Amino acid sequence: MASINDIRAAFPYFSQGPGATGYVYLDNAATTQKPFAVLEAMNQFYIHSCANIHRGVHRLSQSASIAFEDARGTTAQYFGVNNPQQIIFTSGATESINLLAQGLAKSHLKPGDSIMLSVLEHHANFLPWQEWAHAHQGTLKTLPLTSDFEIHWPELESHFKSGIALLSITAVSNTLGIRLPLEQIINMAKRYGVPVCIDAAQLAAHQYMNLDTLQPDFLVCSAHKLYGPTGTGILYLAPSWLNSLPISKTGGGAISKVSWEKTEYVDGALRYEAGTPNIAGVLGFAAALKKLQQWDLATCEKHEQQCLNYLEQQLIQIPEIIVYAQGKPKIGSLSFNVKGHHAFDVGSFLDRYQIAVRTGHHCTQPLMTHLNVSGTIRVSVGIYTSQDDINAFINALKKTLVHLLKYHA
Ligand code: ALA
Repeated sequence: MASINDIRAAFPYFSQGPGATGYVYLDNAATTQKPFAVLEAMNQFYIHSCANIHRGVHRLSQSASIAFEDARGTTAQYFGVNNPQQIIFTSGATESINLLAQGLAKSHLKPGDSIMLSVLEHHANFLPWQEWAHAHQGTLKTLPLTSDFEIHWPELESHFKSGIALLSITAVSNTLGIRLPLEQIINMAKRYGVPVCIDAAQLAAHQYMNLDTLQPDFLVCSAHKLYGPTGTGILYLAPSWLNSLPISKTGGGAISKVSWEKTEYVDGALRYEAGTPNIAGVLGFAAALKKLQQWDLATCEKHEQQCLNYLEQQLIQIPEIIVYAQGKPKIGSLSFNVKGHHAFDVGSFLDRYQIAVRTGHHCTQPLMTHLNVSGTIRVSVGIYTSQDDINAFINALKKTLVHLLKYHA
């Protein structure tokens, strides 16, 4: 089992980057630091075997193609998917949802349909559906949640009965860190034939997911939140959608035959990957996933959990602090505010004290409206976060409060 020190040693951030001077990075829900192994995999490709894939008989193209398809296999295995063709590489979760929305708009979604989202959604899983609804007289419905963010099951069931064309929900709120009960939601949706898309951008960085068992219709996530490079991600398609989801991006690499009259597309993942993909990014992503397996994400999650619990315990002892979703189990992130002070002011002071956190609406403005706040301060942990980091944060926050209270007096 890897210790926190072993894990930190694998990240240049701590030896050569800002971490070497004690800057504490607690903005992992926005993006994670990258291990040497990821940088090496990308450099290796650019230095020793740079060539386009699936487009050449020369040895460089052949070996790049093999490495790319191996990376697809690694990614499929990581997500518990037996058929690697169900993993489509994209530029990230945002592109994945856009491709999906445009594809579904061509066949599955009909004018006037209803799409259900939760109030927790990141804009990436909100705007593509809102755009579609505005253009097609569709309706956006809200996943029924209690004031405590629990599912209101009878209401959800009655929505399913009355007809929902798609349910697209986040697995974990990027703002509050709370997790939706995916297994039960998907089971109920299946009973009513409602396809489900899961935004796993946050969850996949903290918990192993087995998609062959979970059986969503679609799932998206970004490599950069799993210690991989930016500009890479996946769209997972269930077997029934592979080859039947209409293509929304056309171009080279996706076709088997093109003539003036018509074009035939290949079957499988390449059908959806027109154009030269982010080859180095995909190889870096696979390298990150291998490191996560080597370190055992399940063990890392327990440690992250302890850090978040400790953080919440510390925060709730400070009278000026409001913790959102207080007492609820959290994965990766926790949001709070300082009574009477703007989140940006708090974040700016924290930066002066060598702490990076995200402040603002976190690309979840509908959730901010629901909470009746303009923004929050979000602390998000990663596999290398230590209890010392949390202590450094709490100390910096206490100094920040002294400044803010003085300024306000
Ligand atoms: N989705 C990222 C976040 O939550 C950018 O910060």
